[in-house]
Amino acid sequence: MTDPIRLEREGNVGVIVIDNPPINAGSTDVRRGLLEAVAAIDADPELVAGVLIGAGGTFIAGSDIREFGKPLEQPELPQVIVAIEQSAKPFVAALEGAALGGGYELALGCDMRIAAPGTVVGLPEVTLGMIPGAGGTQRLPRIVGVAKAIELICAGTRVEATEAAKLGMIDHVAAGPVREEAIAQARGLAGKRRLSEQAVPAQDPAAIAAAADKASKAGRGRPPVVAAIDAIKAAAVRPFAEALAEERAVFTQLRLGTEAAALRHLFFAERNAARGPKGVVARPLNHAGVVGAGTMGSGIAAALLNAGLTVTLVDSNAEALARGVAAVDGSIARWRKSGRLDERGEADMRARFTSSGDLEALAACDCAIEAIVEDMDLKTQLLGKLAAILAPDALIASNTSYLDLDALTAAVDKPERMLGLHFFNPAQVMRLLEVVQAATSSDETLATALALAKRMGKQAVVARNGYGFVGNRIYAAYRRQCEFMLEDGASPEQIDAALEGFGFAMGPFATGDMSGLDIPWAIRRSQAATRDPSHRYVAIPDRLCEAGRLGRKTGAGYYRYDGPGRGAPDPEVRALIEAERATKGIVPREFTAAEIVDRVLITMVNEAALLLAEGVARQAADVDVVFVHGYGFPRHEGGPLFWASRQDRAHLAAQLDALEASTGAGFRRGDIDATLDAL
Ligand code: NAI
Repeated sequence: MTDPIRLEREGNVGVIVIDNPPINAGSTDVRRGLLEAVAAIDADPELVAGVLIGAGGTFIAGSDIREFGKPLEQPELPQVIVAIEQSAKPFVAALEGAALGGGYELALGCDMRIAAPGTVVGLPEVTLGMIPGAGGTQRLPRIVGVAKAIELICAGTRVEATEAAKLGMIDHVAAGPVREEAIAQARGLAGKRRLSEQAVPAQDPAAIAAAADKASKAGRGRPPVVAAIDAIKAAAVRPFAEALAEERAVFTQLRLGTEAAALRHLFFAERNAARGPKGVVARPLNHAGVVGAGTMGSGIAAALLNAGLTVTLVDSNAEALARGVAAVDGSIARWRKSGRLDERGEADMRARFTSSGDLEALAACDCAIEAIVEDMDLKTQLLGKLAAILAPDALIASNTSYLDLDALTAAVDKPERMLGLHFFNPAQVMRLLEVVQAATSSDETLATALALAKRMGKQAVVARNGYGFVGNRIYAAYRRQCEFMLEDGASPEQIDAALEGFGFAMGPFATGDMSGLDIPWAIRRSQAATRDPSHRYVAIPDRLCEAGRLGRKTGAGYYRYDGPGRGAPDPEVRALIEAERATKGIVPREFTAAEIVDRVLITMVNEAALLLAEGVARQAADVDVVFVHGYGFPRHEGGPLFWASRQDRAHLAAQLDALEASTGAGFRRGDIDATLDAL
């Protein structure tokens, strides 16, 4: 046996203990040890059966994700499972904690599965750009049927023990200690119960087609989803061994592909982006105050309620407060209707929610988030008052998008307790949360905010103070380039289509119309006096706003909106753009979709390099997490920097030259090589 595997004897049952802390991840040593232990049980005439169990409260929570990018060493997991199935002695999987991916496939190779209460089981490979590769697509449908297996595998669903028992994914939930129960069951099993020898339950083809259709749509038809559906369907129609070999071949091919590499990159990037200071304990938070009941404040309040906190929402304007409270009510009602909340959950949530026109109502809060209008003087005043009302150690956060966080923090007594929490709209839905450390924020404040983010189910990315932080700064840079391309000859619909073709959820002009063109217009006007006149400036968005085209809410922006749904290209916009080109003497030229995509991506990469050099972004991969979670960047591409890391460096350098040429005065070139080398 290898180091992580030991064989213990309990009378006539051999107990194989997997001990590979912290999560008993599958690895070459684990597989080799398992194979030896199974052979030892097989060969020992005194043993009648085997039990597989994990040490430290969990079964195998997954495979070592880093191994997926490399050639696998022998033995591979299917060999271990074959050995268990071919053994004449029955094996029982005793599950605790998590049995995911290869861990659950191993359990499916056993003759029985028993789980401690609270155990989660599932096959999340598709979320990592692969399909299960050790029989998961063949054995699971033999238990739950093809349609359910498609649903579970394509979404990578983690199923809790009670539900898993209902579905048959485990035989039952253990009433007492799972090890003892598994040993007793193993001793009593009369013979083998190999899933590979069972038939797939017959099912209505229409139900299978519906499940496949739904999963494919939810997975946007990505190759791993399509491959998983094909493999699961094959279980019902092809001989087991043949379909199993095919599954392995597809798994191997996907595992080594770019999409799986991108998703593995994000898996690690997401964890690192949210990592707090080592050894610092977060303070527990129970009662949050939210100031400003507008778009953001009401969304933040709902998100905090959903995380289980008591919430008090304050607005100085009675009408705005009423609208904010109604918006929170609306979120609660939607969660109830969708089944996310039951009756008791709803009552409990409503009981935790209060509102007030008076800031003093926040006196008992242990944290407060301000989301009032984006105005330095108003925010400074408010923060000063807030600090005086709250307990001296209560955490204070600002949701500012662009203001200087260090200047805001200066308004607060004991500024070490303040930082930025930059939510995205709608805050109760969007997963991204930029956690912005001000110069004076303490480690404890950061750790506390990160724990809160986790509790809220948000993907936190730690950043430092800087105009627009990470996301909005890069977004502004590439939107500006899109305006340059507009002026140089491309149309809004062509640019949006090119970027959506690459995989962005929505192009920048459709996005601008949706969120409203008036706020950026106001920002531009406030900056007009200080703008360097030598820098290139595109006036097309100003002309649109002057013409009353403020976006979707006015029925027209870059597009015309005659009803719900996508806007239509508008000849008036084209005329307006042509007039601007004529004013500047620009002769329009053709753009290809590839050129548009390259320009946007190189802009993102260049700006990311600058942000890293300035210390606003902590690490290169954070930028990828921000764009995937907050700006509709296609997840399967791994983020702008991961994308760039897969491009030819000479091509990137040429793109950077083109970017410089189109920008002109004021262009700043980032160190792209250093940035990508650090990824
Ligand atoms: P909003 O205009 O919808 O809401 C602001 C609310 O604050 C209003 O209800 C107003 O009555 C209230 N208010 C103003 N002064 C107040 C005071 N002294 N005390 C109490 N309430 C006061 O604004 P929105 O869009 O919700 O933005 C709020 C903040 O969030 C801004 O700092 C903004 O930059 C930031 N933000 C906005 C995002 C968005 O997409 N709208 C995204 C991320 C951040």
